[in-house]
Amino acid sequence: AMQVETKFNILNNRLSIQGEENPIETIKSRVKSLDSIIRKLEKLGLPITVEAARENLTDIAGVRVVCSFVEDIYKLAENFLAQDDITLLKRKDYIENPKPSGYRSLHLLVKTPIYTETGKKEMIVEVQMRTIAMDFWASLEHKLRYKKAIDPQVAAQLAQELETCAEESARLDEKMLRIRDRIKMD
Ligand code: GTP
Ligand code: MG
Repeated sequence: AMQVETKFNILNNRLSIQGEENPIETIKSRVKSLDSIIRKLEKLGLPITVEAARENLTDIAGVRVVCSFVEDIYKLAENFLAQDDITLLKRKDYIENPKPSGYRSLHLLVKTPIYTETGKKEMIVEVQMRTIAMDFWASLEHKLRYKKAIDPQVAAQLAQELETCAEESARLDEKMLRIRDRIKMD
């Protein structure tokens, strides 16, 4: 897991764009805990082996990149994917096409080689790219999603309100971007 962590930090450093102030606000990498890997393999009815995990779980390694502005997300994604040791497997643009919940982020499922004592291995990494506002929203919505003891009617009401918040938040992101661009022009 440490090698993966290191790999991500190298990627993080490479991600800075020429002529822009560092567009990344925060970057967090996480490796799924052994506990939840086992639970997921059991749920899928798969053997509890390293191979089964490697072949079937695409969300073992995750990186979350948070930017201030939507525009920077797309620029960063482009630069990131242009690296020759990064292969794009799947791209899901929940910024263009938000989830019914209101969830917004750009998801990139990529493959990248990691080098271990036993040789070169391909590692699949789920990259989530979002704005500070989207990240704020997602963590609040996550709290509701994983709250077990809650009246279903209240939960539905809150989910509805969160969806409205996501729309308002997206409009704010857009306004702030337009202001940033006007500041840049002078
Ligand atoms: P498939 O994998 O394509 O079936 O879709 P999925 O519903 O699993 O979503 P996806 O794989 O694109 O995204 C998985 C991760 O994105 C989750 O682990 C969350 O971190 C995040 N995510 C996706 N949808 C939501 C959402 O509605 N709310 C929040 N808070 N996070 C979400
Ligand atoms: Mg998924």
